[in-house]
Amino acid sequence: MANFIYLPTMKILMVCLGNICRSPLAEGILKDKANKLQLNWQIDSAGTGGYHIGEPPHYLSQKVAKENGIDISSQQCRQFIKEDILLFDKIYAMDMNNYYNIKQITKELWNENKVELLLNELYPNQNKEVPDPWYGDEKDYYFVYDLIDKACDAILNNFKKEIT
Ligand code: 4NP
Repeated sequence: MANFIYLPTMKILMVCLGNICRSPLAEGILKDKANKLQLNWQIDSAGTGGYHIGEPPHYLSQKVAKENGIDISSQQCRQFIKEDILLFDKIYAMDMNNYYNIKQITKELWNENKVELLLNELYPNQNKEVPDPWYGDEKDYYFVYDLIDKACDAILNNFKKEIT
């Protein structure tokens, strides 16, 4: 008989402003790592602004992801809605503005236990931000990829510590 290990399903939402540069990378990177570990996690992303709804990720986010073996080309930008705070177990904001926008949008549903700055998983309590590469150049996308990649490793390590 097969041995079954109980692993809780996690529903995680990555949030930035445009859902074009940073959060699509965070979605793609964490999905890739969770899949490789055969974790049954649901991972999505959204933007607090509605400027790019329906668009694919920025071409430089797609490029840096692809170079790391991750295809994010089929993602479509969507806007964060207040009910997301009920649907997801954990919501990661890329920067402080995203965090406060989530608080504003969710109004009476706000739950501070569910919302965290992504980099606090890597650098606890330091409130560091993933910088917005929108007005930057290619090297900024590589920098952002690296930060998000390390933060996603930290999410998985912290999760492992919690369940063992
Ligand atoms: P993101 O970057 O929040 O990482 O997706 C941005 C994308 C678009 C805009 C701002 C930030 N914009 O102003 O259109």
